[in-house]
Parts: sequence; C-alpha cells; structure tokens
Amino acid sequence: MRPLDPSSLPADAAAVAASWDRHAIGYGAQEALEARAIDAALRVAAIGPDERLVDLATGTGLLLRRLAARAAPPREALGVDRSAGMLARVGELPPGWSTLLADARSVPLADGWADVATCSFLLHLMGPGQRAEVLAEARRLLAPGPSARLVVVTVWSAGRPAGARLARAALGLAARSRPASWGGLRALDPSEDLRAAGFVLSRRVVLPRHGYPSLVIAARPSITLARAPAGPSFRSS
Ligand SMILES: C[S@@+](CC[C@H](N)C(=O)[O-])C[C@H]1O[C@@H](n2cnc3c(N)ncnc32)[C@H](O)[C@@H]1O
Repeated sequence: MRPLDPSSLPADAAAVAASWDRHAIGYGAQEALEARAIDAALRVAAIGPDERLVDLATGTGLLLRRLAARAAPPREALGVDRSAGMLARVGELPPGWSTLLADARSVPLADGWADVATCSFLLHLMGPGQRAEVLAEARRLLAPGPSARLVVVTVWSAGRPAGARLARAALGLAARSRPASWGGLRALDPSEDLRAAGFVLSRRVVLPRHGYPSLVIAARPSITLARAPAGPSFRSS
C-alpha cells in the first residue's frame, strides 16, 4: 500500500486536507457528540472477529478505537483519511490494525479487500459528485458475496419542523465558520446516493438526540447478474 503524496493533491483537495490538519488538535473535544451514532453504526455493522474492515475518512479514529474496545474485535482494520494531522491523533491500535493516508475516492487497496466498509460523518460534507465517488470506491473495496456491507453515518435531522429548521440553521452557521472543511455541511439522508451507487439498503437507525442528530444506514452491494453471452440462446439441429 503506497500512501498518498499530499503534494500530488489538486489544490481544492489539498486545502480541505490542510484545513482538517489544522482542526485535528481540537477534534477530540466534540467526539462525545458523535459517540452514540458511531456505537449504533458498530452494532449495525456487527463486524466479526474474522472479518476485515476499512473505515473511510477515519479522522482521529473514533470508530476504530470504539471497535477495538468491544469484545472480539476484527483481526484486521484499516482507517483511511486524507489528513495526516487527523491520522496522527488516532493513537495506538491493536496488532494487525493500521491507518493509511489516502483519498477515500481512490484507495490503494485491491478490489474486494474488505468484508465491511464504514464511513462516518463524511458524506454530508460533500457534494453529490464526490459522494458518488466515495460510494463507488466503497463498493469496489467490498468483497463479492452476500455478507459484504457498508455502514454510513451522516448528520441528519428529521424532527418536527421547528427542530429541523433550528438544526439546519446551526449547520449553516457551522459551514460558514469553517468553509474549507465544513463548507458543504448540511443534513443529509444519503439513501438515494447509496441506491445510485448500486447498494441495497438493509437497516436505518435515526438518532435525533444525545449527540449530533444522526442517521445510520447499512447497505449491501446489489448483486449484478452476469450478462448472457451474445448470440442465439439455443441451437436447432
Ligand atoms: C468530520 S471528520 C469525520 C472523521 C471520523 N469519521 C469521525 O467520525 O470522527 C471528516 C474527515 O473526513 C476526512 N476527509 C475529507 N475528505 C476526504 C477524502 N476525500 N478522502 C479521505 N478523507 C477525507 C477529513 O480529513 C476528516 O478527517
């Protein structure tokens, strides 16, 4: 696995990565607001001890650390992020686990490397084109077969109209306060993005309180049937 050379990033991507590098130092202060949704994602993902996990946009590794603390964690887990500053704060991981500096849209891993992919608190920061790229990459990274799964977490507010308006206003304020890293921040239900990327949705957990209002969705790659070979389907003698 060859890690990303940050100087090879396009200017806009480099600016986002640099912005996360700067925010990394204070990121831990808000992790408590993410914890409930991350734990729900881990419950839904139900990662077995013999499985391999790739956590896209792992940041400071909150999901990895909470997974490591659970009974029977998986043998191998890889946290991918484009910010070296965020990865530097992941801390010690179990043997066989590691992090990789890479873009979640183009991860230097073989097709089908992971049994489970997770992606928390990233998609709602991106526009539709980038979301499609991340989800296509998640799909490529998942092993073929019916047990492969992706679990995503986004900030989302479905509450009563007044509550949802308030949440939208707060997200707008936050987006304007850190345009490079949070510029795209909005409440997002990524169901349509997932379907468009070839996933079938299997679980949906809404967490309106006790942390960021969040949505956890589990999805499986849809099975694409092999195309019948061209030509006549039967031969007459
Ligand atoms: C809000 S943080 C979420 C971190 C972590 N998943 C969590 O739940 O705490 C967003 C993270 O996405 C990373 N990121 C943004 N765009 C990325 C990309 N294209 N590829 C990989 N990481 C990216 C940032 O560097 C940052 O660490």
